[in-house]
Amino acid sequence: MNDMRIVERAVETRNIKISARGVQVHYGDKHALRDVDVDILDNTVTAFIGPSGCGKSTFLRCLNRMNDTVAVAKVSGTILLDGEDIYDRRVDPVQLRAKVGMVFQKPNPFPKSIYDNVAYGPRIHGLTRNKAELDEVVEASLRKAALWNEVKDRLQEGGTGLSGGQQQRLCIARAIATSPEVLLMDEPCSALDPIATAQVEELIDELRASFSVVIVTHSMQQAARVSQRTAFFHLGNLVEYGETGAIFTKPSDPRTESYITGRIG
Ligand SMILES: Nc1ncnc2c1ncn2[C@@H]1O[C@H](COP(=O)(O)OP(=O)(O)OP(=O)(O)O)[C@@H](O)[C@H]1O
Ligand SMILES: [Mg+2]
Repeated sequence: MNDMRIVERAVETRNIKISARGVQVHYGDKHALRDVDVDILDNTVTAFIGPSGCGKSTFLRCLNRMNDTVAVAKVSGTILLDGEDIYDRRVDPVQLRAKVGMVFQKPNPFPKSIYDNVAYGPRIHGLTRNKAELDEVVEASLRKAALWNEVKDRLQEGGTGLSGGQQQRLCIARAIATSPEVLLMDEPCSALDPIATAQVEELIDELRASFSVVIVTHSMQQAARVSQRTAFFHLGNLVEYGETGAIFTKPSDPRTESYITGRIG
C-alpha cells in the first residue's frame, strides 16, 4: 500500500508543469492574492473557479507575467515552469509568453488579416524559415482551433470581421501558433453562444494532448465538463484544489461546498 502511494506520487511529480509557492499579489494597498501554493499538471485541463473578485484572473496573469504590465501590481513568491523560475531576471517575458500563451475573455484579434493574426507570433519569434513553413503553421494552427474550414478561402480578410465565436477560435489559433507549452484561458467562452462554446470546449479537450491548459470559468458545468483538476479561490485564497470529480462531489471545505451549491457567488 505504502509502496503504491510512493509510486503514485513519483508519477505526479514528473507530470508537474508549473509549481507555484507562496504567491502573493498586491495592487497598491489591496492584497488580492494570498499565499497561493499549487502544482499545475502537464497534459491536464485545470479549472480555476470562484466568486467574482476572488483572484482567479490575477493568479492566471502571474503564470505568464502579464501582471508585469500592470503598474500597481506587485507579485511575490515563486513560480517554476519545468523547474525554472519564471520571475528570474534572465527570463524575457516576451519569450515566456510564447511558451505560456493566453486567451482572453473578450476575443481580441489584431486589426490584421486572419492569416497575419496567426502568423504574428511565429514571425516575431522567428519560428519559421520561409513562407511555405509559415503557411503550414498557420494552417495547422487554424485546423487545431477548428476554424480552418470556415476561413480557408478568406485568409486575407480582416480578423475583426469574423463572428464572436470565430474570433475567439482565431485568438486560440494565434495563441497555439507559437507551440506554447501552457495555454491560459480567462473565461474564453463567456462571449460565445452554446454552439461556439461546445466547439471551444471540444478543442480544449484536444489541446490537452499537447499542452497544459488552465481555464478560468464561472460555469461549474463547464469546469466539470472540460477539466480534470479544479482550484477553488475565495477572497484571494486558494481554498481547495484537487481532482475535479472530487471537488464537485465531495468538497472538503465548507466554502467550496457553498459555492458549488450556489450559496455564495
Ligand atoms: N489592475 C488592478 N488594479 C487594482 N485592483 C485590481 C486590478 N486587477 C484586479 N484588481 C482587484 O484584485 C481582486 C481580484 O481581481 P481578479 O480580476 O483577479 O478577480 P477574478 O476572480 O478574476 O474576478 P472575475 O470573476 O470578476 O473576473 C479584485 O478585488 C480586483 O478588484
Ligand atoms: Mg477574472
